[in-house]
Parts: sequence; structure tokens; C-alpha cells
Amino acid sequence: MFDDLHPIVSTHENFDSVLVPQDHVSRSKNDTYYVTEDTVLRCHTSAHQLSLLKQGEKKFLVTGDVYRRDTIDATHFPVFHQMEGVRVFTKCELSSTELAPQDFVSQELKSMLEGLAKHLFGEVELRWVDAYFPFTDPSYELEIFFNGEWLEVLGCGVMQKQILNGASLVDEEAWAFGLGLERLAMVLFDIPDIRLFWTNDERFSKQFKAGMFRSGGHNMQKFKSYSKYPPCYKDVSFWLPNVSKFTENDLCEIVRSTAGNLVEEVKLIDEFHNPKTNQVSNCYRITYRSMDRSLTDEEINTLQDCVREALVTSLGVTLR
Ligand code: DAH
Repeated sequence: MFDDLHPIVSTHENFDSVLVPQDHVSRSKNDTYYVTEDTVLRCHTSAHQLSLLKQGEKKFLVTGDVYRRDTIDATHFPVFHQMEGVRVFTKCELSSTELAPQDFVSQELKSMLEGLAKHLFGEVELRWVDAYFPFTDPSYELEIFFNGEWLEVLGCGVMQKQILNGASLVDEEAWAFGLGLERLAMVLFDIPDIRLFWTNDERFSKQFKAGMFRSGGHNMQKFKSYSKYPPCYKDVSFWLPNVSKFTENDLCEIVRSTAGNLVEEVKLIDEFHNPKTNQVSNCYRITYRSMDRSLTDEEINTLQDCVREALVTSLGVTLR
């Protein structure tokens, strides 16, 4: 079990070591936080798979903070936590079954994860969905039926041979999975907003204790929601400088770096194309809300002014 691996990793570890193709979107500066040209804040705990395998680890969990540039809403935050699991099967273990090695490993993986889901969620309906990850083949996502909808809780699959070979494991097979911890906790406890994990409000933290997970999540007390502070909506409209270059993630990053955790959502509410000038105008609605206190008009107006200014200087937009 590893929970203290450094979150700054090389692009090789984050992407190449797990076979992420050169043209994959996750490599772009729009999706991943680059520290230098060849180091990043890891965007997944899979970044550690290869080096741990190389160190001779055959069965491990990695928990850690991961970072992604993304849009802003109640279920997305630029830093969250993942748990990665890997299990290697030796030639001997693989030969103890009639099944083809890959089928055997898939079966082991699925029954282990179904057991985990049952432990966490109780008797829930599960379904396996075929998926794509560069590092596994076949790849699957596990979905659970919760509060009336199918929710993706993890990705997993049979590890690509090329990764194992890179760690000098040629006769072995392995499975791997990765799950988002906040997402799991939000579902388990009915936590409505991912920013609550970052609040200092005791009405949140007092409801959780170390070890309370042990008996299985479905027996646990739900989070008792306290009333939220009121939101404050501000719209900003602007002409795009260069339509092909503008990205919503860039916009969100600017709003986030100006307003921090006070921003709850950034949402495109109107788009207008002027056929004469071939210019595009966007209107975004920013929802400000604190998890801890009431915001004043004055404070939000000042913030909004800073956001507007930053949009002009950093993105080169023209405010309307
Ligand atoms: N790294 C994937 C992600 O961040 C999750 C994942 C999927 C991890 C499949 C795995 C895996 O180890 O086998 O979305």
C-alpha cells in the first residue's frame, strides 16, 4: 500500500509508461497541469504502475491526489483522490485453470471488484460496460445503480503485455483498476458538492470519523446536509479573440485562480455568431457560493471585476 508517492511525475511516467498515445487529449496543456515541459502533476495514479512493477511489487494499492484541468461544477474539482490497484499472476497461477490466461484474469478482476462494490454499497445492481484505456485490454467500467441512475465508479482491465514486459515480466498477466475516492464517498454518504471535502466547517468534518467505513458503507449514516449559503450569479459576455484557440478549461482555470473555492459552477448560457463579422460571442454564468459563510455583494463584485480583467489580459477576449 503506497500513499506517499510524490504527485509530480515525469511525462514519461504519467503517459508513456502506461502507453498513452502521443495524440491523446490527456497529454494537452488544456487537460493536464504541466510543471515543466517534461514533468506534470499526475493526472492519475496509474502513473506509478510501471515503476512499482519494476521494483518487484506484485500486488499493490496506490492512493494519492491527482490533478486535472477541467470545467467547474459540483462534481468536478481540479484536485481529487484516486486509488489504483494492481495484481500480478504468475505463470504457475495461470496454469492452474482451464481458461485462457486473459479470461481467467478478467474473471478474477470482476469478481474481486464485485465483492468490493457489495462491501461498499450493499446489495446493489451492477453492470459491466466495455471501455477503452490505453493501458488495459480488455477494459471495463463498473457502474452501479444508485438513486435511480447508473453511475460509473471505476475503470479497470487486463494490463497490456507491453507494460508487464517493460518490467521484465514475460510469463505473467495482471489486472489493474483505478477508482475515484471522492466520487465514491459522495455516492455513499449523499454528499452533494465535491468542494465540501475542502471546507473547514465542523458541521461537515464532525460527521465523519476514521474507521467508520470498516463495516461496509451501506450501513453507515448518510451525510446530514446543512442548509447551503445562498449562491450569487454573475454573467460575463465577451467576443472570442480566436475561436479555435479558446477553451472552456482555460476560462475555468482563470476563474478558479481568481475566485478559488468560491466558484461553484461556470456554465455557457448563450452563444452568438455574427455572420457579418464572423465573430463569436459567449455568455458564461458564474455561480459563486461559499461552503462556509455568506458572501457580500461587495466581495463578489470585486471578484467578478478581477475575473473580467483576467479574461482580457490572459485570454485576450473583448468584453461586451
Ligand atoms: N487511470 C484511469 C483514469 O484515471 C483509471 C484506470 C482505468 C486505472 C483502468 C486502471 C485501469 O488501472 O486499469 O481514469
